[in-house]
Amino acid sequence: MIRLDGVSRTFRGPRGTVDALHEVSLDVRDGEFVAVVGRSGCGKSTLLRMVAGLLETSGGRILVGGTPVAGPRRDVALVFQRPALLPWRSVLDNVLLPVEMFGWKRGAYRGRALALLETAGLGGFEKRLPHELSGGMQQRVALCRSLIGRPKVMLMDEPFSALDALTREELAGELQRVHMESAATTLFVTHSIDEAVLLADRVAVLTPRPGRIRKIVEVNIPRPRTLGRNEHQAEVARCSAELHELLMSRAGEEGAETFTPITSLGRRPPTS
Ligand SMILES: Nc1ncnc2c1ncn2[C@@H]1O[C@H](COP(=O)(O)OP(=O)(O)OP(=O)(O)O)[C@@H](O)[C@H]1O
Ligand SMILES: [Mg+2]
Repeated sequence: MIRLDGVSRTFRGPRGTVDALHEVSLDVRDGEFVAVVGRSGCGKSTLLRMVAGLLETSGGRILVGGTPVAGPRRDVALVFQRPALLPWRSVLDNVLLPVEMFGWKRGAYRGRALALLETAGLGGFEKRLPHELSGGMQQRVALCRSLIGRPKVMLMDEPFSALDALTREELAGELQRVHMESAATTLFVTHSIDEAVLLADRVAVLTPRPGRIRKIVEVNIPRPRTLGRNEHQAEVARCSAELHELLMSRAGEEGAETFTPITSLGRRPPTS
């Protein structure tokens, strides 16, 4: 469904050039959920923006549903870190925004919008304005808005990172349910190993500057998954530990000691 073929991106500016991504290749199958993790600045948002058609590649090619990406598409939904709701529009009108933008019939989608809000726990809030809702509720509205057109592809850039830990966990659980129902092909950027292990079929770990795929970790845990005590705890722990090691160590150090032992910190090299 999504194919990245040797995708690179360089940013040129007055203060020099940045190789943000270098020859990234990745196939996301129909209905698959792939999480992308990596240190800050390794090119995750750049990658997502290119798949969304908001940014051009410097090299390589990206196909969605077999066609090269040439700009934003109506069957591809985007969710960002901040909900980006229009403050003067009601909750319902925010959810219906893509319907207007793409010139679809509003009447045909009103019922779906209300049903989505209901399942997101926002029944009765449809006439409110965004500022009357909490951050978590606003992000739920953004999630409903992204789902209104039954997208085939969902691109999500740290959608829950601005929320408190409990709301985050709750919304991640909600997203799992949505994904199991809609089977949309999903590319999900996160800093949270827990979120990646809860949600993803595979987790792509990027190296920093330039961003390359360091490793793709498979998460073989049946759904629905939970983070607390469960029968697959051993597999959850194994995936989390592997991701943690990949993120903490530098490239080329796999298997090497990840952390400097505390006893050796501050010790000067021997002088003779
Ligand atoms: N428009 C731009 N102009 C110049 N450099 C940019 C631009 N956008 C991104 N970069 C650079 O590209 C690199 C990757 O940025 P990107 O935002 O993709 O990282 P990220 O992995 O999403 O980081 P974070 O986890 O902090 O969100 C960074 O070094 C950044 O400075
Ligand atoms: Mg980012």
